[in-house]
Amino acid sequence: MKAVTIHQYGSADELIYEDAQQPELKPNDVLVKIYATSINPIDWKVRGGGYPGSDQRQFPLILGWDVSGVIEKLGTEVTGFMIGDEVFGRPDTKRQGTYAEYVAVNFQEIARKPKSIDHTHTAAVPLAGLTAWQGIFDHGKLEAGQKILIHAAAGGVGTYAVQLAKWKGAYVIGTASESNTAFLMELGADEVIDYKNEDFSKKLKDIDVVFDLIGGEVQTKSLDVLKTGGILVSTVGIKDEEAVKAKGMIGVKYMAESRPENLKQLADLIDEGKLRPVIAEVLPLEQAKEAHKKSEKGHTKGKIVLQVVNDK
Ligand SMILES: NC(=O)c1ccc[n+]([C@@H]2O[C@H](COP(=O)([O-])OP(=O)(O)OC[C@H]3O[C@@H](n4cnc5c(N)ncnc54)[C@H](OP(=O)(O)O)[C@@H]3O)[C@@H](O)[C@H]2O)c1
Repeated sequence: MKAVTIHQYGSADELIYEDAQQPELKPNDVLVKIYATSINPIDWKVRGGGYPGSDQRQFPLILGWDVSGVIEKLGTEVTGFMIGDEVFGRPDTKRQGTYAEYVAVNFQEIARKPKSIDHTHTAAVPLAGLTAWQGIFDHGKLEAGQKILIHAAAGGVGTYAVQLAKWKGAYVIGTASESNTAFLMELGADEVIDYKNEDFSKKLKDIDVVFDLIGGEVQTKSLDVLKTGGILVSTVGIKDEEAVKAKGMIGVKYMAESRPENLKQLADLIDEGKLRPVIAEVLPLEQAKEAHKKSEKGHTKGKIVLQVVNDK
């Protein structure tokens, strides 16, 4: 099969489009013919070599952990799926990834794809959508009527978080650059703070949940706007756990999990017209290098998709 691989850790220039070995199925795996995948920051963090577990990966390594495609083969222990099923999911990030024509995925990590959108749009959903869902609902315990502050609201995870928080009935405040204000209001934000020209910590108070996708100083300042007992949920780690505790707040760092029940909830909301993936750009798989260079700049609006099969 064709795939984009790396033969050593390094810059985006390590990404090579070439022939690679077709994945072998374990008993619980399905073989998915990939129609599209998408870029997440974990892809270039792993590529750089500094990501935890980098010494345990084998080359040539296939990056990418979003998939939308069609089942072509079933492992001997697979139940509930058939050949020809259209599925999506976030495969195990410790295994070979999805910048390829095929991937082997455990059937307990996938769900049926939303019916109302194509594979190209679906591929933008799993990793970022699961991260947003689990971050704000499971860890942030967001309830209707509460106030949530979402940092990096215009990015891959943030665009799902804004829509899901609004759907839940929360008051949604996002941080983004000024050019993204109108877009985020249209997506469901009640307020957008231009992080380049305004200090959110001077404007806000009594926030119930902060969803932090940035870390560093942004996270430190977030403690000034949370109410006592408020929850700081971060995808990038809690910088100073003692400070969080001393202020009577709760700090949660988490890694999103591949839960089919959450994938199904996301698919249902998409089919009901209550959630939509935001696509910055669609590139062919061969252009993974260019896609990484763009994503690494840190200003993607929504998601960059890599198309493997043109299903339009
Ligand atoms: N723990 C997990 O399971 C998990 C899962 C997914 C992601 N993550 C991590 O979460 C982080 C976010 O992921 P992502 O996919 O959403 O990234 P992304 O799509 O690359 O984020 C890009 C967005 O960040 C915004 N941004 C950059 N600096 C900002 C700042 N100082 N304040 C507010 N917004 C800012 C940009 O907005 P402007 O263009 O308006 O500047 C852009 O829209 C990454 O570090 C990723 O590795 C962790």
